[in-house]
Amino acid sequence: MTTDTTDRTLRIRGLRVAPVAAPDKEILQGIDLEVGPGEVHAIMGPNGSGKTTLAYALMGHPAYVINGGEVTWMGRDVLALSADKRSRLGMFLAFQYPTAVPGLSVASFIRSALNAKLQGIDKNPDIDPTDAIKGGVSMLDFRRKMREKLALLKMDEAFVSRYVNDGFSGGEKKRLEMLQMAMLEPQLAILDETDSGLDIDALRIVAEGVNAMLNPDLGILLITHYQRLLNHIKPDFVHVLAQGRIVTSGGRDLALRLEDEGYGPILRENGLDVDVPDDALRLDEPAVLAH
Ligand SMILES: Nc1ncnc2c1ncn2[C@@H]1O[C@H](COP(=O)(O)OP(=O)(O)OP(=O)(O)O)[C@@H](O)[C@H]1O
Ligand SMILES: [Mg+2]
Repeated sequence: MTTDTTDRTLRIRGLRVAPVAAPDKEILQGIDLEVGPGEVHAIMGPNGSGKTTLAYALMGHPAYVINGGEVTWMGRDVLALSADKRSRLGMFLAFQYPTAVPGLSVASFIRSALNAKLQGIDKNPDIDPTDAIKGGVSMLDFRRKMREKLALLKMDEAFVSRYVNDGFSGGEKKRLEMLQMAMLEPQLAILDETDSGLDIDALRIVAEGVNAMLNPDLGILLITHYQRLLNHIKPDFVHVLAQGRIVTSGGRDLALRLEDEGYGPILRENGLDVDVPDDALRLDEPAVLAH
């Protein structure tokens, strides 16, 4: 397969995913989804519905096996690519580097990620990422760009001298995620905003960061449990994931309805067997689904 940089729609067809630890337990049972350039898609769903599994599958996490389906982006078979190649292809996957790396500064980390992206998926040998004349970014330009993005995200310059995720608070990890995204300027961003560490401050950082980066070339797949994040980031499409499938899709009004009614009515309407009363299915509470 050759890369077709003009095809900027992420296409997910019939995606089936199981954990390596329990290959018979299929978590995603046929996901169909398309994310076009400039579109913001939100994926919502009760706890345990498979949202994080979808993010992990798209980023090539080794703990998951693909049982079926396909994912294409820029003419490439994404599922056949390493996580590194996915990122060289302009996909930004949050949580790609979740661990602390003492000794590696935020600036060096982002610089090497940017250099890798500049060389592209095929590691074009004619491009010298450090040489502006050979398609790269000089140290001067890199610093200038970093300062510009720090200002955009209202971040302190001292942040980039710290070691990656070393002693970072939940909010600082989010800031690093947003700074990485701003610097790499991906064409597609997949963000999984899980419950952990997402206090009001972190929510605001994510919302402001994403909003500052919106542009007609960037497609965003925003996976979240929180309707309130969608008060700050306005999605063009909202999809409800439950029991391993996207059970319904709509516009922003769908997120508002979920906030109002919880998941119960919508899931029942779509033929899912939900065994608890609606008022127990509030958005920020664990939802119990019948199997
Ligand atoms: N590596 C794994 N091994 C075994 N089971 C797993 C694994 N990963 C996920 N699961 C199971 O798959 C289901 C979906 O999990 P997932 O984390 O994708 O849900 P989620 O929609 O992100 O939930 P939350 O809203 O709580 O973040 C859960 O029942 C979970 O226990
Ligand atoms: Mg999750």
